[in-house]
Formats: sequence, structure tokens, C-alpha cells
Amino acid sequence: MRAFFCITILFVFTFSCQTKTGKSASEMAKFTGTIADSAAVVSAHPFASKAGIEILKKGGNAVDAAVAVHFALAVVYPRAGNIGGGGFMILREADGKLNSLDFREKCPAAGHRDLYLDADGNVVPRLSIDGHLGAGVPGSVDGMYTAHKKYGKLDWKVLLQPAIDLAEDGHMVSEIEAEYMNDNREKFDKFSTTGKYFTNPSNRWKGGDKLKQIDLAATLKRIQTNGRSGFYEGQTADLIVDEMKRSNGIITHTDLLAYRSVWREPIIGNYKNDYRIISMGPPSSGGIALLQMCEMAERFPVKEWGFQSAKTAHIMIEAERLAYADRASHLGDPDFFPVPLEGLLEEQYLSQRAKLINQSEATRSKNVKAGSPKGATAVEGKMPAESNETTHYSIVDKWGNAVSITTTLNSNYGSKVFVAGAGFLLNNEMDDFSAKPGVYNQFGLLGNEANAIAPEKRMLSSMTPTIVEKEGELFMVLGTPGGATIITSVFQNILNVIEFEMSMQESVNAPRFHHQWFPDTVYVEEEAFNVEIKSDLEKMGHRIKSRGSLIDKNYIGKVDAILVRKDAKLEAAADIRGEDTALGY
Ligand code: GLY
Repeated sequence: MRAFFCITILFVFTFSCQTKTGKSASEMAKFTGTIADSAAVVSAHPFASKAGIEILKKGGNAVDAAVAVHFALAVVYPRAGNIGGGGFMILREADGKLNSLDFREKCPAAGHRDLYLDADGNVVPRLSIDGHLGAGVPGSVDGMYTAHKKYGKLDWKVLLQPAIDLAEDGHMVSEIEAEYMNDNREKFDKFSTTGKYFTNPSNRWKGGDKLKQIDLAATLKRIQTNGRSGFYEGQTADLIVDEMKRSNGIITHTDLLAYRSVWREPIIGNYKNDYRIISMGPPSSGGIALLQMCEMAERFPVKEWGFQSAKTAHIMIEAERLAYADRASHLGDPDFFPVPLEGLLEEQYLSQRAKLINQSEATRSKNVKAGSPKGATAVEGKMPAESNETTHYSIVDKWGNAVSITTTLNSNYGSKVFVAGAGFLLNNEMDDFSAKPGVYNQFGLLGNEANAIAPEKRMLSSMTPTIVEKEGELFMVLGTPGGATIITSVFQNILNVIEFEMSMQESVNAPRFHHQWFPDTVYVEEEAFNVEIKSDLEKMGHRIKSRGSLIDKNYIGKVDAILVRKDAKLEAAADIRGEDTALGY
């Protein structure tokens, strides 16, 4: 493990230093991921990837492995892995059948449009972020249970066991996790009502300390024995509702009992002739925005222009600007808002949108509006955003089934509320709704009508679990955390592999940039764009701002992906920005 970190740090340092000398990022990143003959798992944590690969070796399929990874992440990666949150799954069976599962959290029945407003109609700062009122009804346990019921092969109980062992026996906390836990300690103190959470005698964590989670192990055992009822009914449900009553929470027994994940049609579109992109539809904005970007970008000779050349980056930034403008106005929970799905992806519409791109000059975001695709009911608005902390895992099994899952608590450790006696954190996903049209949320961004709060509605997401086919065969499985930057990170990785012929690991390692319409700024990892390219982009009118380096906490995204190579082997690539781990056999 330590060796892994040393190699990673050495590599990143080298990468970063050399890039600052002016060589291109692609020159710096000649690396290959884990090569596997049959099956692979990539996730944010080595123990979670291990849980997944062991299930595959026991004869489980990709969905079985996903269930094991998901629950293991809830134990060893508590800042985003969860049972108190939600997410999305894209599935491609070996025979090419596709499906997607929405296990996004829902607004409790007592929620309403003005939930976070004071008597004067102003948004109460941080009310949707910190503490009990920020929690939506969790979807993860129902999601895993529903996916397993339809596709699972191994017994459910077997899939929960690795997570139970990790919680009961304890696991070694990494240096990074220790730092995150220490950074958040005051918030846990403030928002968790009984003071029982990630405690150790000194309350200062360091890498190598052992974290045992006995209450969480007991909750996982109830889920192991009773399936979804072990969470949404009985003792776990009582503990959640009791926790709500200790503060200003509104989730009730009725909300928990009523929660159901939903099988939805995935969003599908082509990139050029040979590639088919399969991603998540609303209530995630990910699939639609990703396809819009890809389909606008494919009209330009980016391969010829080269990876992160000024011309290529300019086109990608402009495509991002246009897609995020549409996202703000037209996307929300399709069960509550008429999302003009087909119109947003129509060839003629995207061709008109792409014509707005001036090839030599940056557009100003204030002059870019959402378009009016067929079926649209809203045309104004700016972008709602999500936090950076989320997690993604990609799995391919020996039969060729592929699963791509992104899941989240929203912020790091969600609402910072531990359910006392149950040992897990609740999400603060309610902040992904627009608390009031025209008012910035915690990430300095705006929302509108499509994403207004309503009882039992799902909040808009950016999560973009994605699968790409090449000539009808499985080609790539990918996704990432990163809030609003999720979609642009997936977009860049697809182009990195298809247009710039990077290996999966080179692509994942490559520095990234991001534009989201508002603010009118291109955020970059400082390793992206050398001095000359940055200057060319600035001359075109782009405002460029460093988000930090890919070796600090302010990196953009953390992509975990699997590529099917020409020789039919799998290349599993874990992002160098974290402790992400790729395993295969
Ligand atoms: N809360 C992160 C997302 O759903 O995009």
C-alpha cells in the first residue's frame, strides 16, 4: 500500500515538474493501467476494489461485484461511499442489452419550494448544506437491492460480508482520509447529535490508525439479513427517524417506506460513426450534456489540431459553455418537469448550437442563452451545481457484462450528520435543488424552475456514469466525482482515448480543464496548457483560472475507467489523483 503511494507521488511529482517545463501533458503521461485478461474493478479505495474482485473470482457477475464495492466504500471511503446517499448505474450486458438505474435521493414529503427561505423569502445560508434538513431520502440501499434482484447471481448475503468484516474488524485509515476526517471534526461535533462518530482517543486521526465501525456493522447486518427492509423499515428506519427528531430533520417512516429506485432508459448517442455513448438521463444532467458536448465537438478536426492545443481546447470550452446553458434551463426530474430530451439531442438543434461557436474568439457567457429545442418549456436560467465529493467505480466481469456507477453524499461526508446508533452519514443532497430561482447555492451557482424543490422530487445531478461501445462492442466504462466538473471530465476522457489515442491510464492521468457557462471562467489543473497555449487562449478571450494542481485537493475529477483494448484485454485505470485502485485478473 505504502509502496503504491510512493510510486504514485513520485510519478505525480515527476509529471507535474516536467509539465511545468513546457512539455505537453500527453508526452508526460506514457503510462498503462492494470492489464487484465478477463475481468477488472476500479474504485476509489483499494479495499473496495479488493472486495469487488474477490466477488468476481467467486463467480459473481459485474452487478454482484458492484454491490460488494458499494457497501465496502460505505465503510472505507465514508466521505463519499455511502448507504445514506444515492447514485446512478449504467449497465451493459455481455449481449449488448442496456439499462440504467436511478437511485437518486428524493425530497421528503414534507419538503416544499420554500423550505430553505426565511420569513422574508431569503435563502437561509447553509440550511440545505449543514445538518439534518439537508438530507434527502437515501436511495443507495434500494438501488443495490433492486439491481441485485434483477441481475445478481450470487447470494445477497455473500455480497454484504466484505463490508461487514471491514466495519467490524476495522480498517487502516489512509493519510488522506485521516486528514479529511480531522478537517471535518468540528462539523461532525456540531451537526451529529450524540457525539458518537469517527472517534479515537485523541480525536486526531493519522494514517495507519485503525477505524472500527461497530454500529455500521450492525446496520449492514440488518441489510444483509432483511434486504431493503433492513434499511427502510425496522430498527434502521427507527434510528433515522429518531435522528431527524433530535434536530430539524423531516424524513419520516413513510418517506423511507415509499422510496423506490427507478429503471430508466439510458441516454444513447453516437460519437462519429463508430462509437456509441451510453450514459445517464434525467434526473442527472450528465448524459444529455455529455452527448451535446461530444456531438458539437465531433464537427471540428480536433484530432488534427491535437490534444490540448489552443484550437482544440477552445472548441471544447465553447461546447461546454453551450451545453451548460441548456442544462440550467431544461433539466430536472423528468417525473416532475417536462424535459425536452429528444429536442436537446436532435441533430438539427445541435448543428444550430454548434454554429454559435466562433472558431477564433471566445463567446461571453452573458451573451449565451439556453436554446429552444423542440418540447422546451423553459428558456431562462443559470447553472445549479453540486459539490466535488462523490465517487465512481467501473467493473467488467469475465462474461463481458459492464457496470458504471457514480454515487454520492453530495458534500464531503454529506450533511455531517451521523445517524446515532446506526453508524452512517446522511447526505446533504437537498442542496442540489435550486433553493430559490436566481439565488446562488453553496458553490456560487444558480438554479431555476426545472430544479425547484417539490415533495418526492429528485434533485438534478451531474453524475455521468458512462459506457462507450466501438463498432457495437464494449469499449470503455468510465465516470468520476467532481460536481459540475463531472461531465467535462468524462467528455475529455472520451476524446483523449478516441481522438488523441491515449491509453486509458494516460487519459485518466492527463490534466483537465472545465467551463460551466457561469462563472465565465475556464478552470484548469495547473498542469494543463503550457504558457504558450494559455496565452493563445487568453488572446481568444478566455479567462483562465487555476483550480490547483493535480497533486493537491483541488484537482478536477478523479476518473476510474476500463478500456477494452484491440487485443481484447482490459486496461483498468485508477486515477492518480487519489488512492483509487485498479485490480484485474
Ligand atoms: N451531488 C453531486 C451530483 O449529484 O452531481
